[in-house]
Amino acid sequence: MDSFAGKLAVVTGGGSGMGRELVRQLAAGGCSVAACDVNADSVAETVTLMEPGTASVPLNVTGHVCDVSDETQVLRFRDELLDAHGADHVDLVFSNAGIGGGGSFVTEPREVWERTFATDWWGVYYCARAFLPLLIKSPEGVLVNTSSVNGFWASLGPGIPHTAYSTAKFAVKGFSEALIEDLRTNAPHVRVCVVMPGHVGTNIVANSLRAHGRPDQMSEEEAAAANENFRDSAPLSAAEAATIILDGVRSGAWRILIGKDAEFLDAFVRAKPESAYDYAEMSKGFQPGSST
Ligand SMILES: NC(=O)c1ccc[n+]([C@@H]2O[C@H](COP(=O)([O-])OP(=O)(O)OC[C@H]3O[C@@H](n4cnc5c(N)ncnc54)[C@H](O)[C@@H]3O)[C@@H](O)[C@H]2O)c1
Repeated sequence: MDSFAGKLAVVTGGGSGMGRELVRQLAAGGCSVAACDVNADSVAETVTLMEPGTASVPLNVTGHVCDVSDETQVLRFRDELLDAHGADHVDLVFSNAGIGGGGSFVTEPREVWERTFATDWWGVYYCARAFLPLLIKSPEGVLVNTSSVNGFWASLGPGIPHTAYSTAKFAVKGFSEALIEDLRTNAPHVRVCVVMPGHVGTNIVANSLRAHGRPDQMSEEEAAAANENFRDSAPLSAAEAATIILDGVRSGAWRILIGKDAEFLDAFVRAKPESAYDYAEMSKGFQPGSST
C-alpha cells in the first residue's frame, strides 16, 4: 500500500494521543476516516480539528462513540460508519484504543484488572471480529493492532508491577502474529501489523484514571502531575509515533517498533531472555521504568 488516498480507515481511540494523530495524518493524506472513542467529547474534538479548511485536501472524517470492550457497541460503530461513509468495506483498521491500570494482580481490585484487560485485549478481539470481514472485502486490507513494549516485556521496572496491561498486550501481539499465517493462507490480500510503542507523550495516564476513576488516595493535582510527568518526559510525541506507524504500514512491515527504548528492549529481551527482569543487567544500557 503506497498511499492511503481514497481509502477508508477505522481508528479506535481516535479522541487522543496516537489515535488522534493517526486520524490527522491519514486525513491529510486524503484517506477517509471513521474514528471512535469511549469519550464522546474528545472524538468530537478530533473531527472538529479536521474540518474542511484546516487541511489542503477534501476530508471525510466521522466521529463515533464506542466502548471497544463492549461487542454490541463495536457492531453498532461498524454499522454506523458503513452508513456514514456509504461503504461496503474498509481498507485499514487501527485498533489503537487502550488504557493502563490493574498493575498488581496481588493487591489491586479485580474490576480494575478486568477493565484494563477488557479494553486492551477484548477491544482488539471484537474489532478484529467486526472488521476483518470488511477488510477481506477490500482489494488490499491492513489490520493494525497496537500492542506495546509490554507485549514482549511484562514490567515497568523495579517495584512497578504491570500485570493486566502486559497480559493484554502479550495477547494482542500473539494474536496478531498468529493471524499472519492465517491471512496468508485464507485471505492473502489482507495483512496484519503489530505496533509496539515505547514511551510516547500522550495523556494516557489521565485517560486511564478517567476510565477507572481516580483512586481515593490520589488528589486531582497529583493525578494531573502524574499525567504531565508521563507526557512531558517522553522522547517521542504522539505525532511522531503516528508517522512511524503509517510509514511502517506503507512499507509492508508487520512489526512496528516505536522509539529507541522499544528498539533497545526488543533487542535486549531477544538477546538475553533470562535477564529480561534483571534490571541491574538491563540498566547497564537503558533505564527501565519509562515505558508504558
Ligand atoms: N503512550 C505510550 O507510551 C504507549 C506505549 C505503548 C503502547 N501504547 C498504546 O498505544 C495506544 C494509544 O495510546 P495513547 O498513548 O495514544 O493513549 P491516549 O489515552 O492518549 O489515547 C487512547 C484513546 O483511547 C480511548 N479509549 C480508552 N478506552 C477505550 C474504550 N474502551 N473504547 C474506545 N476508546 C477507548 C481513550 O479515551 C483515548 O482517547 C494504546 O493502546 C496504548 O496502550 C501507548
